[in-house]
Amino acid sequence: MKKILIAYSGGLDTSCMLHWLKKKYNAEIYAYCADISGMSAAEKNKIIRKGLSTGAKKVIVEDLRNEFMQDYVFPSLKADAVYDGEYFMSTAIGRPLIAKRLAAVAKKYGIKIVAHGCTGKGNDQVRFETGLYSLLKGVEVLAPLRFWEFRTREEEVDYAKKNKIPISSGSKKYSLDENIWGVAIECGRLEDPSTPPPSDAWQWTGGKLRKKESEITVSFREGCPVALSGRTLAPVELVAKLNALGAAYKIGRADMIESRVVGIKSREIYEAPAAKILNMAHFDLERMVLDRETLHYKEKLAKDFALLIYNGRWFSPLRRALSAFVDETQKNVTGSVTMILHPYAAQIISRTSPNSIYSKSLATYAKGDKFDRSLAEGFIKLSCLDIAKRS
Ligand code: ARG
Repeated sequence: MKKILIAYSGGLDTSCMLHWLKKKYNAEIYAYCADISGMSAAEKNKIIRKGLSTGAKKVIVEDLRNEFMQDYVFPSLKADAVYDGEYFMSTAIGRPLIAKRLAAVAKKYGIKIVAHGCTGKGNDQVRFETGLYSLLKGVEVLAPLRFWEFRTREEEVDYAKKNKIPISSGSKKYSLDENIWGVAIECGRLEDPSTPPPSDAWQWTGGKLRKKESEITVSFREGCPVALSGRTLAPVELVAKLNALGAAYKIGRADMIESRVVGIKSREIYEAPAAKILNMAHFDLERMVLDRETLHYKEKLAKDFALLIYNGRWFSPLRRALSAFVDETQKNVTGSVTMILHPYAAQIISRTSPNSIYSKSLATYAKGDKFDRSLAEGFIKLSCLDIAKRS
């Protein structure tokens, strides 16, 4: 009997896909669900029961949050990777990890066919498939949403009802993708970029706005955040705490027109409070500990790094090489950054580092100045010799 491994979330698309593939290919279905957002035991059990009652032979749910943080999110943070100035790529950075686990599970159970529930118009199909082809020789990928008969959500709901597939009731206003690094929201009324997001579109930051400021200190060791206001925290805990705190101030919202890999422009909104705060703090520390040349070179590289993540090319030689460069630069990125959280914004107010290359005696305009001003005249004359008017 044919075996198919599917990337499964328990939502409408992947539930219909599970049932449809089983029937169409007369196959045994293994359903794999990656938990990168933090599921409760009850939610986990619910997905397993749902998958089994929809017809899966086996349902596997794995908590990948720690690996997600250590091996994907933090390398991206260290690179200061941001797509088109605003998007911290919460969705994009999760895909290679899911592809990696899918490849491993397929190998373990001797499965040659892997299916996912992405549409044919988005980036995630590119990321899953690029990841799978990079990791698993000979894998066959199926993307039923690109070729099955259902054209609308209603048709899928009909199919589910007819076949007694358990689905959650109620129509969905938006399409969401959520994990602990952020939430992405699109579709519905957001498809008109000339109108502001309806207030019910915000998932994490839609609550009551906190007005009273908070001061926080984020500490980094070799580029990775390790403590909040003096308390050492594990990566998942630290990010969850910052998300909750930042969300109360509605920090980390983005509303952007996005340029997808497949050529479409789309409008998506994002909420990523921890990502925003950590990115600001991390870059601030780099400005103090990195020499000017490395700092500026790294800024250029950050754009390329972001593109590799966005385009799903995590398992590429170039991404590995850039990560090696980034890690080399992070050896001195240890220290603490203090910020004030206000409504809608975080503001940096101070920083310290044992590796700081800021020198007060060189910078000062007051007593104790050790800077040799006599060197400036010759330095300037030589440095602009090529463009100076000749007499
Ligand atoms: N546009 C984002 C990306 O390609 C997020 C895609 C998923 N968004 C969603 N709401 N389902 O990374």
